[in-house]
Amino acid sequence: MTQHSVHESQPSAGWDADRYDSQFGYVSALAGGVVDLLAPLPGETVLDLGCGTGELAATIAARGARVIAVDGDPAMVAAATGRLGSGVLLADGHDFRIDEQVDAVFSNAALHWMTRPAEVVAAVRRALRPGGRFVAEFGGAHNVAGILAAVRAALAELGLTEGARMPWYFPSPGQYATLLEEHGFQVLRMDYFARPTELTDCPRGVADWVVMFGASLIGHVPADRREAVLARINDLAAPTLLRDGRWYADYHRLRFAAVREPAGASDAAAVG
Ligand SMILES: C[S@@+](CC[C@H](N)C(=O)[O-])C[C@H]1O[C@@H](n2cnc3c(N)ncnc32)[C@H](O)[C@@H]1O
Repeated sequence: MTQHSVHESQPSAGWDADRYDSQFGYVSALAGGVVDLLAPLPGETVLDLGCGTGELAATIAARGARVIAVDGDPAMVAAATGRLGSGVLLADGHDFRIDEQVDAVFSNAALHWMTRPAEVVAAVRRALRPGGRFVAEFGGAHNVAGILAAVRAALAELGLTEGARMPWYFPSPGQYATLLEEHGFQVLRMDYFARPTELTDCPRGVADWVVMFGASLIGHVPADRREAVLARINDLAAPTLLRDGRWYADYHRLRFAAVREPAGASDAAAVG
């Protein structure tokens, strides 16, 4: 991977990269479909936005593409650098800038963490050459609705709703396709599907998932009440998310492919 510079601000951080790989490896393991949709070609440059520990960036690089991996979390950037060697940038997906235009921007399981999506789509558009593609999968409407319902109910029962913050943006396919079109993309494909996923490496089930991904939901809970909250979340989630002794996360995904309209195409939002 060659050198490049980036001009960015950094979002707040706090990922446990080791735990992410050991307990939640399914996030990248289940992403084969979106990598196939990207169909990276030898010699092209692909930017992986929200690369995490770099597993999928490495997969894309192994297919012969040059990869620029971007993440907003220092621990993830360190892990990805360990895996990829170079070409990993610490930057916020809302306003990153690179000093070149790439052939494709790819993203898996990351766009829903970026809660100002218009800024993200504008930044992606800026990073793409005209005709370049934006291919991604992320959480769509109703994603983890059962987990969220259990968290909200547990916090309410225990009088701990004050301070909880919903950290995600889960749009419907129509909302996200419209956003892409408003920013000068042609939407070639927009799939929306339920993907219940077994939490095979989470002995405490949904509680483990909430500890990994739900820091904004439960981070305000005093330490001495944390275990009670997690236990109650599991109690409340069990009727819908525990089946035959196996825990599931009730994922709903959006998977899309879009192309930056070539220069001169009808493009009302040609901003940058
Ligand atoms: C669930 S992980 C997915 C990682 C990887 N793409 C994968 O498939 O395993 C979400 C990633 O998005 C990154 N992320 C969240 N918000 C971000 C932001 N505003 N800018 C850049 N990266 C962000 C996180 O740091 C994290 O590495």
